[in-house]
Amino acid sequence: MSATAAYPNYSPGLQGVVAGITTISQIDVESSSLTYRGYNVHELAEHGCFEETAFLLLKGHLPTAAELDAYKKQLAADRHVPHHVWEALRQCHSEMHPMDRLKVGYSVLAALDPEYKVPATDGEANRRKADRIVAKAATLVAGSWRIANGHNPIDPDAALGTAANFLYMLDGNRPDEFMERAMDTSLTLYAEHTFNASTFACRVCVATLSDLYSGIVTGIGTLKGPLHGGANEEAMHMLISIGSADKAEAWTRNALANKEKIMGFGHREYRKSDSRAGIMGKLGKELGRMKGNTTWGDIAEVMEKVMWDEKQLFPNVDFPAAYAYYLMGIPIPLYTPIFVIARTTGWCTHMIEQLDNNRLIRPSCIYEGPAPREYVAIGSR
Ligand SMILES: CC(C)(COP(=O)(O)OP(=O)(O)OC[C@H]1O[C@@H](n2cnc3c(N)ncnc32)[C@H](O)[C@@H]1OP(=O)(O)O)[C@@H](O)C(=O)NCCC(=O)NCCS
Repeated sequence: MSATAAYPNYSPGLQGVVAGITTISQIDVESSSLTYRGYNVHELAEHGCFEETAFLLLKGHLPTAAELDAYKKQLAADRHVPHHVWEALRQCHSEMHPMDRLKVGYSVLAALDPEYKVPATDGEANRRKADRIVAKAATLVAGSWRIANGHNPIDPDAALGTAANFLYMLDGNRPDEFMERAMDTSLTLYAEHTFNASTFACRVCVATLSDLYSGIVTGIGTLKGPLHGGANEEAMHMLISIGSADKAEAWTRNALANKEKIMGFGHREYRKSDSRAGIMGKLGKELGRMKGNTTWGDIAEVMEKVMWDEKQLFPNVDFPAAYAYYLMGIPIPLYTPIFVIARTTGWCTHMIEQLDNNRLIRPSCIYEGPAPREYVAIGSR
């Protein structure tokens, strides 16, 4: 008998289990749409900027022009990362993945936060901490990458927003308008996604009354896995190993026949499509045309058709994000860290929501181990 038949109350992977109430975002499975605080992510990505989405998530309403201006100035003022963090990152092993470096960075940042010792039950302090966590993310990703590659971090430019600053802090070049827009759009799409694994992990962490920084480190560790955020890096490695559109169909059919998981496809919640993938795919293909390299978009089209025909599986946002970032010249190990830059907004908002109305998260489990038995002293075993 299968586990689910034997235990009707057990849902493997917590599929379909309602684990909380939220006012932050909603997935509509029927229409495959995603809204942040009621606004469709399509509209936010098309008409707004990442900072507007960050404000919307964290403060609960769309900012006025004055509020957005003030928020951008506040982010600019908070972007600086203290030298203690860079010193800690210089001690890391050269092979350490950028996601693991980020865990080090935020762990060191925690104690440098001016409200480090303020208890997690202080909602106002949590809101101020969240702003600082979000502001420093791009600086931390770019600076830790530069350190890992033997360079000094580049200071943020107060005149640039999050997307442009990130690209600037990577190599010192200010991006053109299209590059900035593409990065900004991906950050908006990656910002929030209901009770996904890393967000839930963040909520579990702070529900013990641990602090927001610990929650962020938990979130980063959870996002790193290839079934979650790590899929964007794996998807690019896969595209590179396929190499050209004429090989894509045979490669995909072979992988499916071998029961392999194809990275960047499928989703726990959506059934027909991931609307974010449509927006990102359009951008990725446009980038390909601009750069005179449509290889990745061409491979993607073939794979998407085979995956749908064979398994009714569709690309999730990680698939087009992978080749869009590749065309932007971003090193592959930074794809999941970019996801972190965006998702610090969703994570912090969820942790604040959890702490504002907290109850320890502690599910039950089914025991299938040995029945109670006598302890045998070590000399008699
Ligand atoms: C996202 C994901 C983890 C959701 O997993 P889930 O809800 O637990 O679904 P399952 O892994 O149980 O998959 C259900 C079925 O679809 C298949 N499937 C799901 N995603 C697949 C993929 N990417 N490639 C091939 N088959 C896939 C499974 O093999 C399984 O088939 P079966 O019933 O014949 O055994 C899964 O789709 C996946 O691993 N995708 C690839 C990683 C990825 O892109 N992650 C980013 C998510 S945003």
